[in-house]
Amino acid sequence: MNKEQIRFIKSKTDIVPEIAIVLGSGLGTIAQMIENKTIIPYSNVPHMPISTAPGHEGNFVFGNIGEKSIVVMQGRIHLYEGFTPTDILIPIRLLKDLGVKSIILTNAAGGINKDFSVGDLMMISDHISCFIDSCLIGKNDDEYGVRFTDMSNAYDRGLQKIIMQTAFENGIELKKGVYVQLKGPQFETPAEIAMLSRLGADAVGMSTAIETIAANHCGIKVGAISMISNAACGILDKPLSGEEVNEASTKSAPKLEKLITEVIKRL
Ligand code: HPA
Repeated sequence: MNKEQIRFIKSKTDIVPEIAIVLGSGLGTIAQMIENKTIIPYSNVPHMPISTAPGHEGNFVFGNIGEKSIVVMQGRIHLYEGFTPTDILIPIRLLKDLGVKSIILTNAAGGINKDFSVGDLMMISDHISCFIDSCLIGKNDDEYGVRFTDMSNAYDRGLQKIIMQTAFENGIELKKGVYVQLKGPQFETPAEIAMLSRLGADAVGMSTAIETIAANHCGIKVGAISMISNAACGILDKPLSGEEVNEASTKSAPKLEKLITEVIKRL
């Protein structure tokens, strides 16, 4: 299956990307920063699972940032759309087969930590994924990785240092914290957020931990940044909406775009 995907992509672009960036809800415009673009809609790529979520355009954008060859994924699939955990392996392993060594994952997330405000950026230092099934359940594909994947450096410490340093030197305020992934699609209840807070989570979302597991399994280094699009349920006495999430992301996209561009130049 992957051979067919690779053949198709290679017929459209000569770029061999070292770095991949996955853009979450409302963050797709960040792809503007790429030079020499080749856009490949997911719908043209054989066997590619396609997101139905609002705010997810559904394109690969190949190109350059400075000297670096990169590929951006504008949009991703989620478990709440009905995709299975193993479906999440498809795009990540495709990136691996294309030559990707490091991946920057982005997302919109609800802020659990009371020190966070809407619009803040949070570098993910670790995650809690035990509320979702692993994408690695089932027969192990030894071509990609080992049966029992080490997760002690899931968010690569070297990449974390570069992200923190880059933010500091560019005057971009960057929080740091633990991301918890739930299946969704409903937002959490106040009781669930109170529980997640006690468990040590700083932000909650529906996408990134499972992609981090897939990437760690096949040896891609992960860096990840959440955009805090809303206070998680019960933190403020206010109902949540998907539109609010996308609007906040769009507003903060330029700040994240600047950070990612500068990080990539240093990788
Ligand atoms: N909860 C879960 N996922 C989210 C949220 C949230 O509050 N905001 C953005 N993605």
